[in-house]
Amino acid sequence: MNVRLYIWQRLTAALMVPLLLVHIAVIFYASRKGLSAADILARTRGSVSWALFYGVFVSAVAVHASIGLRTVLTEWTPLRGRTRDFAVIAFGLLLAVLGFRAVVAVVLP
Ligand code: HEM
Repeated sequence: MNVRLYIWQRLTAALMVPLLLVHIAVIFYASRKGLSAADILARTRGSVSWALFYGVFVSAVAVHASIGLRTVLTEWTPLRGRTRDFAVIAFGLLLAVLGFRAVVAVVLP
């Protein structure tokens, strides 16, 4: 793995730690308060803060997981060079599209 990818993987990992903690705290809060899906959507719909929070989270996961998958493919498969990089970029884009679709579903009014 080159230095740039190494740094991006650590940066996205460090970014995901606080986001993950907030996400888990929100899950605990919602379940302890017995919030329904409608209650949760009433809070998230139209919220720029939640859109930014989950948008950044999805971006970090897509970048982090693709770089990680690149290492796994290099170690465990004969895939190399452009074929491998094309596969992980496609994987990252798929994660990003699915993730942003979910974010849009909870924040769009
Ligand atoms: C807070 C969440 C996360 C943290 C702190 C984290 C941290 C890390 C770190 C530090 C590495 C580098 C390990 C190494 O090179 O020795 C790594 C590798 C990796 N991560 Fe994550 N990660 C997180 C979430 C995720 C998620 C959500 C995915 C997948 C959807 C993922 C997939 C991978 C993969 C595939 C690798 C490569 C493993 C390897 O190099 O052998 N990680 N992660």
